[in-house]
Amino acid sequence: MPTPILGISAFYHDSAAALVVDGDVVAAAQEERFTRVKHDDSFPQRAIDFCLAQARLTPDELSYVTFYDKPVRKFERLLETYLAFVPSGYKSFREAMPLWLKHKLYLPREIRRGLKERYKGRIVFADHHESHAASAFFPSPFDEAAIVTFDGVGEWSTTCWGIGRDNTVELKEEIRFPHSLGLLYSAFTYYTGFKVNSGEYKVMGLAPYGKPVYKDLIFEKLLDLKEDGSYRLDMSYFNYCQGLTMTSPRFHELFGAPPRRPESLLTQREMDLAASLQAVTEEVMLRTAAYVHRKTGLRKLVMAGGVALNCVGNGRLLREGPFEDIWVQPAAGDAGGALGAALLVWHQLLENPRESTGSDRQKGSFLGPEFSQEEVLQVLASEGTSYHICASDEELCNEVAELLANQKVVGWFQGRMEFGPRALGARSILGDARSETMQSTMNLKIKFRESFRPFAPIVLRERVDEYFEMRPYEDSPYMLLVAPVRQELRLPLGEDYDHAFGIEKLNHPRSIIPAVTHIDYSARVQTVDEDRHPLLHMLLERFYQKTGCPVLINTSFNVRSEPIVCTPADAHRCYLMTDIDALVLGRVISFKNEQRHTVNQQQREEHLAQFQLD
Ligand SMILES: [Fe+2]
Repeated sequence: MPTPILGISAFYHDSAAALVVDGDVVAAAQEERFTRVKHDDSFPQRAIDFCLAQARLTPDELSYVTFYDKPVRKFERLLETYLAFVPSGYKSFREAMPLWLKHKLYLPREIRRGLKERYKGRIVFADHHESHAASAFFPSPFDEAAIVTFDGVGEWSTTCWGIGRDNTVELKEEIRFPHSLGLLYSAFTYYTGFKVNSGEYKVMGLAPYGKPVYKDLIFEKLLDLKEDGSYRLDMSYFNYCQGLTMTSPRFHELFGAPPRRPESLLTQREMDLAASLQAVTEEVMLRTAAYVHRKTGLRKLVMAGGVALNCVGNGRLLREGPFEDIWVQPAAGDAGGALGAALLVWHQLLENPRESTGSDRQKGSFLGPEFSQEEVLQVLASEGTSYHICASDEELCNEVAELLANQKVVGWFQGRMEFGPRALGARSILGDARSETMQSTMNLKIKFRESFRPFAPIVLRERVDEYFEMRPYEDSPYMLLVAPVRQELRLPLGEDYDHAFGIEKLNHPRSIIPAVTHIDYSARVQTVDEDRHPLLHMLLERFYQKTGCPVLINTSFNVRSEPIVCTPADAHRCYLMTDIDALVLGRVISFKNEQRHTVNQQQREEHLAQFQLD
C-alpha cells in the first residue's frame, strides 16, 4: 500500500499544498495560482483539491496530513510579545485576534473540513524551521549537507542552522524573535515604500543603483553582528512587536526622514538604503555560512526560508565560499514549508530511507497542474481565437525561435506549472535578450510597469560559462543565483551614462545581452538542461543555431501584480490584454495579428485594476 502524505501551509503568506507519495514529490502548488489573488494566505482548498486530483486520491486515502508549523506556539509568541509591550501592543494584538480565533487556533477543524470530513487520520504539526530545513535538504541532490534557514519568523526562530544526513534533518542552533534578518529586510522594504512580504525582491533589484553609505550605520545602531554570524537588533528602532508598522520614529530619525510613500518617485536615498541593506544582508549570510562550515566541516550547503530567495546573496555565497556547492529550495518561502512538512513526515517520523540519487528530487519544480491539447483548443474555440497546430516539437521550436529572432514576444505555456515564485519556462514570456529595446517594450506593453529591474536570462546550460562568470556546466535551474555577465561581453557606457539617473541607466546597453544585464553587470541566471526541460532546451538550441546566441529573456507569464497564469484560460486572457505577439500553448500557436477580436484600452485598464498593487 502506498503512503500518501499531504502537506499544507496557510494563514501567513503564500498558502500552498504539496503531496508526497512514498517519498516521491507528486504535486505542489500555491493557492494564489488558482484564486488569482497574489500571495493568497487563505486555507489552500484549491491547491489541496489539485494535489489530490493529480494523484487520483480521495481524502480518506491519505495516510497523513501535516501542517508546516505549530500554531499554538506561534500564538504563545504573540501573547508573550503583547505582554512584554503592554499596553502599547494592544492595537496590533486586536488586529491579529480575529484571524486567530476564526482559523489559526482551530486548524484541525479547518483542515478536516477542507478534506470534506473524509480524512480520519492523524494531523501532524511540524516545526516551522524544521519544515523549511526539510524542504531545503530532502529534495536536494546531497546525501549530507549543512542547512541554514533564514526567514521573518516562524514560531520563535528566525534563523537556524543544522545538519541534513540521509533521511534526517537536525537543527542545532537558532536565533529567536524579535531578532530577525528577514524582518530587518522587511523593515527596510516598508521604509523604502514597498509592500512587506512581496516587495523585498524589488529592494534587492534597486540595490545596484545605490551606494552602501548607510551600511556602517546599520551595523552600529540597528544590527549587532557577531563573529559567528549571530546578531541582535536594537528593538527601539523597530515597531513590529507592538505596532502596525515595521519601523519606529527613532528609525526615521536615524535615517532623517519618514518612510517613502508607496508609488512616489524613487530617489538616490532609497537606492542607497537598498544598497546598504543588501550589503548588510550579504555580510550576515557570509558570516553565518562561514560559522556553520566551521562547526559542521561539511562541504555542501542547503538553504530555505524567505531570505534564501535573495539570489544576489546566494551568488556571493557560492562564489566566495566556503561551501563547495549550494542548493536552495525553489519555493524557499512559506509555500515550500508544505513540501518540507510532508517530506519530514515520510523520512523523519516514519523513518523511511532516502536513496542517493546524485541529482535533485524537485523535478525542475514543475509540480503544478497541466492541461491537454483538447482543453487548450476548447478555450481558444470558446474565445473565437484562431490558431494552428505544429506537427512536432521540432517544428514548434523552429517556428518559435524564428519569431523570437524577429523580435516577437512569445507567451510560452508548457506542461506542469512551476511551484515557487519564479516562472522557469512552463508559464513564461520569452523575448530576445540581445535587443536594446526589448526590456522597455516588455515592461511597458506587456507587464505594464516601469521597472528598474532587468529581466532574467535563460541560457543553455552547456554554454553558461560563455556568457556568465560561472563554471562550465554549472547548474542554476531554479533561477536562484545571480552571476556577473562575462567581462568581454560588456560594452563601454559612454559619456551620457554618467549623467543618467536611476532607471535611465538601464536604458544604456551594458552588454551584448542588454535586456538581461543589470546596471552592475549582474544577471539572475537560469540554466536550461535537457533532462529537466527538454522542450525549452530544444527551443534555446534552435535560437542559438539561428542567431549564435544561446540566451533568451524569461519573465513570468502575468501582468503587474497578477499571480503567474495557471490555466490556458488565464494565459489566453493575459495574451489578449497585452502586446504579446504570439501565444504558444503546448504545440498550439496563435498570432495576435491574425485575430479579429482585439481589446481596447478600457478593457485593458479594467483587467489591470483587478490586481492589487504589490
Ligand atoms: Fe518561514
